[in-house]
Amino acid sequence: MDQALGLKGVINYQQDLASSMLMDSDSRPRVITVTSGKGGVGKSNIVVNLGLALRRLGQKVLIVDADLGLANIDILLGLAPRFNIKDVFSGEKKLAEVIIDGPGGMKILPAASGIQEMAELDGTQKLLLLNELDNYSESLDTVLIDTGAGISSNVIYFNVAAQERIVVANNEPTSITDAYALIKVLVTKYAEKRFKLLINCLSQPKEAELVYRNLTKVADRFLGGEVSIDYLGFIPLDEAIPKAILKQQAVLELFPRASASRSFTELAQKLMEIKPGPRLDGNIKFFWRRLVKLKV
Ligand SMILES: Nc1ncnc2c1ncn2[C@@H]1O[C@H](COP(=O)(O)OP(=O)(O)O)[C@@H](O)[C@H]1O
Ligand SMILES: [Mg+2]
Repeated sequence: MDQALGLKGVINYQQDLASSMLMDSDSRPRVITVTSGKGGVGKSNIVVNLGLALRRLGQKVLIVDADLGLANIDILLGLAPRFNIKDVFSGEKKLAEVIIDGPGGMKILPAASGIQEMAELDGTQKLLLLNELDNYSESLDTVLIDTGAGISSNVIYFNVAAQERIVVANNEPTSITDAYALIKVLVTKYAEKRFKLLINCLSQPKEAELVYRNLTKVADRFLGGEVSIDYLGFIPLDEAIPKAILKQQAVLELFPRASASRSFTELAQKLMEIKPGPRLDGNIKFFWRRLVKLKV
C-alpha cells in the first residue's frame, strides 16, 4: 500500500479512514446552542438551569462556555476553573483535566478563549483534538453551548456546527430585531433552516406567543418559506433568578419551587420529547469535525 499511494497518499488514506470511523458511530450526544442576537437576554442563566433540569431527567450533560465576550458560566456557579481548552490545544492538559464538575453532576468546559486558536490548529493537532473530544463525548447525552450574543464569527461558528439552535429573546424590540438579524445571517449565509425560539422574562403566555408570532411573520416574509422556527415556550420574569445569581447558584437548586424553576423543568421535558432522530449531521463527531474545519 505504501508504494502504491506514496507517503502523501498514506496520510490522506489514514485521515479519511479515521474520518469514516468517526462518522460511523452513533449520534450521541445531542449538541444544542443557546444563542441570541442581543446580550443580557438570559442565555447563560438558561444554559445552567436547563443543563441542571436535563441532568435531573437522567441526561449526562456537558456545558460549553463559548461566550468570548462575557464568559461567565463559572461565575454564575461560583466555580473557578484553572484551565481552559487552550491548554488542551497546547498539549499541556488532557480534555478531562480541563473539564470541571458543576452542580448536580453537570460537566463544564471553559472554552471561550480558545475558539480562535481552534480554527488555526494544523491537521495533526486537529485529529488529536478530535480524538479526545470524541472519546469524551461517548459518555454524554447532551452538550449545551452558551455562544454569546450577536453575529460575530464566534457566535456563528458554534451555531453552524451544532445540530440544534435555541434562540433566546425577550420582549424588548432590540432583542427581537437582533434575534432576527442573527437568524437571517444563519439562513442566508450558512443555509441553516431550523431554529427554536425561547422567550425570556415575560409574565404572560400570550405576550410571549406574540413575540414568537411577530418574529416568524417577519422571517416568513423576508427569508422565504424554508425557514422554520419552533416555539419552545417562555421563562417567566422571576425575582428568584437574580437572587440565585447573587448567591452564585442555579435557581433550580436554590429555589426549586420558584416559577422560573418549574419552567426550566418543563423546558427540559419538552426538549426531551422533541429529541431529533439519529441524523448524520447530528453526529457528535460531525459536530467537532465541522467546528475545527469551519472558518467563518
Ligand atoms: N427570567 C428572568 N427573570 C428575572 N431576571 C432574569 C431572568 N433571566 C435573566 N435575568 C437577569 O438577566 C441578567 C442577564 O442574564 P444572563 O444569563 O447573564 O444573560 P446573557 O447570558 O444572555 O448575557 C441576569 O443577571 C439575571 O439577573
Ligand atoms: Mg452570558
